[in-house]
Amino acid sequence: MSRKAAAAKSEEVTVEGIFGPGGLLAKRHPGYEFRPSQLAMAQIADEAFEKHQHVVIEAGTGTGKTLAYLIPAIRSGRRVVVSTATKSLQEQLFQKDVPFLQKHFAPNLKAALMKGRANFLCRQKVHQMDGQPVLKGIDEIDWFAQIRDWEKLTATGDRSELTFLPDDAELWNLIDARSDLCTGQKCPEFQNCFITAMHQRAHEADLIIVNHHLFFADLAIRQDDFGSILPEYSAVVFDEAHEIEDVASDYFGRQISSYRFEELARDTEHVLRVLQIEAAPLRRNLNRLRERARSFFERFPEREGRYPFGHVERNAFLEQNREAYDDLISVLKRIESELAALTPKPEEVIAVARRAAEVRREVAFLLESEEKTYVYWYERRGRGVFLAATPIDVSEILREQLFERFDTVILTSATLAVGGRFDYLKQRLGVLPANESVLPQEFDYAKQALLYLPPNLPDVRHPSFASAAADEIVRLLEISMGRAFCLFTSYLQMKDLYERVSGRVSFPLLLQGTAPRSVLLERFVRRQTPCCSPRRAFGKAWTYRARSFPPLSSTNCPSLFRATRSSRRASGRSRKTAGTPSPNTRFLKRSSR
Ligand SMILES: Nc1ncnc2c1ncn2[C@@H]1O[C@H](COP(=O)(O)OP(=O)(O)OP(=O)(O)O)[C@@H](O)[C@H]1O
Ligand code: SF4
Ligand SMILES: [Mg+2]
Repeated sequence: MSRKAAAAKSEEVTVEGIFGPGGLLAKRHPGYEFRPSQLAMAQIADEAFEKHQHVVIEAGTGTGKTLAYLIPAIRSGRRVVVSTATKSLQEQLFQKDVPFLQKHFAPNLKAALMKGRANFLCRQKVHQMDGQPVLKGIDEIDWFAQIRDWEKLTATGDRSELTFLPDDAELWNLIDARSDLCTGQKCPEFQNCFITAMHQRAHEADLIIVNHHLFFADLAIRQDDFGSILPEYSAVVFDEAHEIEDVASDYFGRQISSYRFEELARDTEHVLRVLQIEAAPLRRNLNRLRERARSFFERFPEREGRYPFGHVERNAFLEQNREAYDDLISVLKRIESELAALTPKPEEVIAVARRAAEVRREVAFLLESEEKTYVYWYERRGRGVFLAATPIDVSEILREQLFERFDTVILTSATLAVGGRFDYLKQRLGVLPANESVLPQEFDYAKQALLYLPPNLPDVRHPSFASAAADEIVRLLEISMGRAFCLFTSYLQMKDLYERVSGRVSFPLLLQGTAPRSVLLERFVRRQTPCCSPRRAFGKAWTYRARSFPPLSSTNCPSLFRATRSSRRASGRSRKTAGTPSPNTRFLKRSSR
């Protein structure tokens, strides 16, 4: 067929002609089924891109929502940002759905994956560290050697390619591309920098795939006119949109953790070591910072969980702990002035000095601010204490920054409506008038799923819970011959039960954190062996397709339903002009439907 004829034919294609029975998708998707809700969703999304509307759509799990918004996004010829809940879901879109579309529908489609800077390697840090005695232990030395070789070969510098590096490897914190120590255009590696390359790819892309954290980090920066992370775009799709209120609240709120002080001390010491600056008094004050931060945060009650820390609680806390607080602030001030007094003052020193000032301002705000538009709270989680101020209501901010700035925002998820209506969501998010739809489920859960609630488990707070849960898991694993996901409410609980179960079963157990998730999933699928994961990570991160899904064991039942749901699947400032279509997205171009 001539190119002209193909183009003419493509001009005629309707959304039904793509998603309907006998349509393009049926011809190109190996497992195609006609899913009426998928077609309905694609038609709504297509119309929204064409008529510049906001949309809220709930469609059940496994509907095929991804293609139902991606194909209309490509047909629109606009530059669209797709934001989803986690990095794993981003990777799934980028590694599975985008190549499928490029292969069968839009060969010249340009897509870019954008993640936070901490996911990428900093070349400059690697070069500075080479040959310096800063590594601890055999593992770090071995990992660093592999990373140094990889740095020369990788096109992206994305940590997810490092299949050998455990999630919690300390080494990564010393070599990632976080902005804290980045000297930007002054860096000798700026032209080759992986962050620069990521931005370039995004500038050339039709489709930019981000996660909610990066999206709202960008929106918050734009609000303060501090520039932007994402290039200009014309429309946004929020997948897993039920997550965005929490994420937006974090980015428009303030937070500091006990870890930030340790990180500041560690990074400053690292800079001094790498730049071979002696500065003995400064080093002593960095040790004092560690001690004083530890002593300050120890004063928060030991029990885990989130607690209010409003005006009254903060005043009472400061009355009892004024000295510890003042000591912390004063050592931060001393570090700032000692850094300022260093000569010469390389960019890295200026960056850590700026950070020390930020940390001091942040902790002072969280302890002393009288602003009434925030809810103040603290949380103890494992060894960390988190202080936070969350805006009471982000709806006004989102209305102004998102829904008024962009004329096409699509919100979708399997769980958005309450009682079949979106009133609550719209009020919380400040959604402007939108096309709303709750689409019917595509699956018969009563026939296709089995739910088992162990009848005799003690309360989760009871000391005997862990051993009883371990017995139950061992029994289930034996029945399923090792095929199972075991989900836990916390990392602590996951590790405890892993220890209890691993010696008692004959198959190897996979444990979240010991390798990147994509690697664990691949091993899980290949070896059909049990896998332990914290529920939050699993609920949004794992995707697994099978004719029959293996048992899911969860220590928190209400959460199980969202997890099961996931596992069923194997500036706006120039918004109307931003983004240029790829020539051959014409293949999917709309006609009258
Ligand atoms: N029409 C179709 N026929 C068969 N398979 C399809 C069809 N459309 C999409 N799929 C496949 O169905 C699976 C689920 O799709 P997708 O991940 O988009 O679901 P979802 O609606 O987003 O579900 P969730 O709410 O759980 O995220 C994917 O593997 C996808 O390739
Ligand atoms: S520009 Fe920044 S992130 Fe990139 S290599 Fe240089 S210091 Fe690292
Ligand atoms: Mg989905």
